[in-house]
Amino acid sequence: MPRIHLLPDALINQIAAGEVVERPASLVKELVENALDAGARAVAVTLEQGGVRRVRVQDDGHGIAREELALAVMRHATSKLHTAEDLERIATMGFRGEALAAIASVCRLTITSRAQGSEHAWRFDAVSGELAPAALESGTVIDCADLYYNTPARRKFLKSESTEYAHCEEALRRVALSRPEVAFALSHNARSVLHLKPGTPEERLAALLGETFIERSRAVEAEAGPARLFGRVIEPRHADQSRPPQYWFVNGRFVRDRMLTQALRQVYADVLHGSRQPAFALFLTIDPALVDVNVHPAKIEVRFRDSQAVFRFVLDAVRRALAPSRIALEALEETDRRGSPESLGTAPLPQQPSLPYSSRSGAPASRPAPYPASPPRAPAGSRLHDAAAETAYLAFARSALAPTREADGTSAVRPVAESTEKGSPEIPALPAATSTDDALAPPPLGYALAQLHGIYLLAQNAAGLVLVDIHAAHERILYEGLKEAWDRTPSVQRLLVPLVLAVDAREYAAWEEHRETLERLGFDVGALGPEQLAVRSAPSLLAQGALEPLVRALLHELSELPQSLAVESFRDKILATMACHGAVRANRPLTLPEMNALLRAMERTERSDQCNHGRPTWVQLSLTELDRLFLRGR
Ligand SMILES: Nc1ncnc2c1ncn2[C@@H]1O[C@H](COP(=O)(O)OP(=O)(O)O)[C@@H](O)[C@H]1O
Ligand SMILES: [Mg+2]
Repeated sequence: MPRIHLLPDALINQIAAGEVVERPASLVKELVENALDAGARAVAVTLEQGGVRRVRVQDDGHGIAREELALAVMRHATSKLHTAEDLERIATMGFRGEALAAIASVCRLTITSRAQGSEHAWRFDAVSGELAPAALESGTVIDCADLYYNTPARRKFLKSESTEYAHCEEALRRVALSRPEVAFALSHNARSVLHLKPGTPEERLAALLGETFIERSRAVEAEAGPARLFGRVIEPRHADQSRPPQYWFVNGRFVRDRMLTQALRQVYADVLHGSRQPAFALFLTIDPALVDVNVHPAKIEVRFRDSQAVFRFVLDAVRRALAPSRIALEALEETDRRGSPESLGTAPLPQQPSLPYSSRSGAPASRPAPYPASPPRAPAGSRLHDAAAETAYLAFARSALAPTREADGTSAVRPVAESTEKGSPEIPALPAATSTDDALAPPPLGYALAQLHGIYLLAQNAAGLVLVDIHAAHERILYEGLKEAWDRTPSVQRLLVPLVLAVDAREYAAWEEHRETLERLGFDVGALGPEQLAVRSAPSLLAQGALEPLVRALLHELSELPQSLAVESFRDKILATMACHGAVRANRPLTLPEMNALLRAMERTERSDQCNHGRPTWVQLSLTELDRLFLRGR
């Protein structure tokens, strides 16, 4: 019978190192974080051979006292945590006291440090345990040589030098992004690679993500109760297929968090096509008592006390940053400027503050809606754990949903009807705009004139010419229609002849795992065998379109989702796929009544100024603009 025994410390540390020191980049992360915790204003990282041969981190922090040098590499030795209560409000990057111990167990580690106020520095060799006087002006130098020299099995898992180097650089970039006030330098194989001066968050973002990112992104800035969010997110039209930089920081710590990722995905799902990914760098700060950072040895994951509330806060703040689209605004401004009694008196645009974005994004309420929008939706009830958090989060949710003041001057756009009143008080506006007249008033998007090359619809409205991208507009309408149908039970149409699909194993598995979701979406799909599925009914909104590519696209999308994820969290993405496949393809001729129906549907549909892929769905060319084209004075 095997006997139970306690493991020797050295072995315990090596086991722990498996979690903390995954590769050279982990050394960079842990050592740089230690430097920051020591109050460093400048940190220099020197790498050799992708960090495998050497990772050396020098800082100008407060240093380590001679007596504590040996202690620093002991397991569970830390200066950052004293009591269990401290664990509830962690303000340092480290606190577990295991990084140096783990690192010392898998490489040749030396620490040279000069504690503030001491006469000279001391050098501690963790392999031999020797302690000797050394020369160093201030701060600390931690040198890790020959990673995994004593655990050859782990060495085999290392990738090429360039790959390991890339991970090291990325580790440094992450820390550097969250600490713009600190200077960073990086060199690899004696070549200087990065030099970051201390600066503002914006400057640091520009230095690391590039000026183009700054130009093509929008600032996010929101505060609610115990949370604050800032950073930048790419404008949907600039998102591309490549793997863009995506950074989430929580209380200064780079994290990978499913909920936060999902929130971003959900914002962009409305405006981005499937394969395109948004670039962003977002910094969330939240009361440390409301987030647990002690759930992962490398602290790369966090757990929120109320992740639902955080989710909504983030969703809202980012949506607000991206909305509303500029083209729609410009069209409105133009209409507003031209707003005279004879052109608009009989066609008052709706004045409710519920413009397309306001219900969910809290966009400024002073801007008129381009056409009727549905009333604001009430915020969903939050799941809360205790009374204190409840009060905090109610404030949180309330301010997150409240309309915000525009930072720039765009809120100067006034509701159209207001400008008609200003015209001339004695002369009443031509037929007084009462509710009975509304039925006779020309609709905001006017009436269709023609179709251009099968792609665009031309219409005339009060302001001038309206140009509509037919596919994009239809897609948006379907999308919003599907979303609305989702909240009720979707209306379903039985197919006269079931559609039989030959499927591969992956498609079949997706069907098996997500049968309920498909049903929820309005599809009745059964299996005829392991390689054949039969579609018996489909959502009425889509039943007219080409069903086979639609069902396949859905199966593919579903196969990429973890089964455990709640349907609600990927609803928008799935519905966007359905809308894209269901929308009128370019080059299909439309009749005038069909085109007018499209215009009316656009007016009824929320947010139809932007299609699911982030492009605008219509533009207004005002008479002034047309006049200008022909140098025609008025
Ligand atoms: N660069 C540094 N400057 C000053 N002190 C340091 C430095 N690196 C490590 N230390 C000290 O060594 C201790 C142990 O470090 P570490 O093993 O990373 O644990 P933790 O960071 O979780 O406390 C730290 O608590 C800190 O007191
Ligand atoms: Mg540490």
